[in-house]
Amino acid sequence: MRAAIITSSDSGYAGQREDVSGPVIQKILEQHGYEVVHQILLPDDREMLAKEMARIADEGIADLLLTTGGTGFSPRDCMPEATADITERVVPGIPEAIRAYSMTITPRAMLSRAAAGIRKSTLIINLPGSPKAVRESLEYIMPALGHGLAILLGKASDCARK
Ligand code: MTE
Repeated sequence: MRAAIITSSDSGYAGQREDVSGPVIQKILEQHGYEVVHQILLPDDREMLAKEMARIADEGIADLLLTTGGTGFSPRDCMPEATADITERVVPGIPEAIRAYSMTITPRAMLSRAAAGIRKSTLIINLPGSPKAVRESLEYIMPALGHGLAILLGKASDCARK
C-alpha cells in the first residue's frame, strides 16, 4: 500500500517549528509495511490543504493519506473542513474510534475535531497534531486499516469469517 502524509502547521511552514509528527507517522507506516510516497508540510490554509488532498487522490498518488494537525479549536485549525470540502464519502467510524480510544488516555481527546473520508480510491484520515496523539491514534487504528483499504481497492470483498 502507498501512503502520503500532510502536516498542517503555520509555524512549521514558516520554518519556525520542526515537523516532528510527519516523520513519526512515516516511521509507523513503514513499520506496518506501507510505502510512504509523498510527504508535505502546508500552512493551516483550507484551500491549500483541500487542493493538495484532492490532487493526491485524483492523481492516484496514494491509497492512504494521513494528515496531522489543524484539528483543534484554534481559529486557524481547518483540517476537518478542508477534508469535508473534497471527500466524496464520509468515514465517521475511524475518527470515532480514535477519539473513543484516546479518551481512555486523556479527556482532551474530545477536543480533536478530526474527520475521515474517501475520495476516489484514497482513504483520508485526519490525526491530531502532537507526536504523542499521532502515536496513540495510529496504534489503535492500524490493525483495522489494511482490511478497509483492501475493500476500497477491490482486493477483498468478503468480511465473513468461517
Ligand atoms: N489524542 C490523543 N490520543 N492524545 C492526545 O494527547 N491531544 C488532544 C486531542 N487529541 C491528544 C489527542 C488535544 S490537547 C487537542 S487540542 C486536540 O487533539 C487537537 O489537536 P490539534 O489541534 O493539534 O490537531
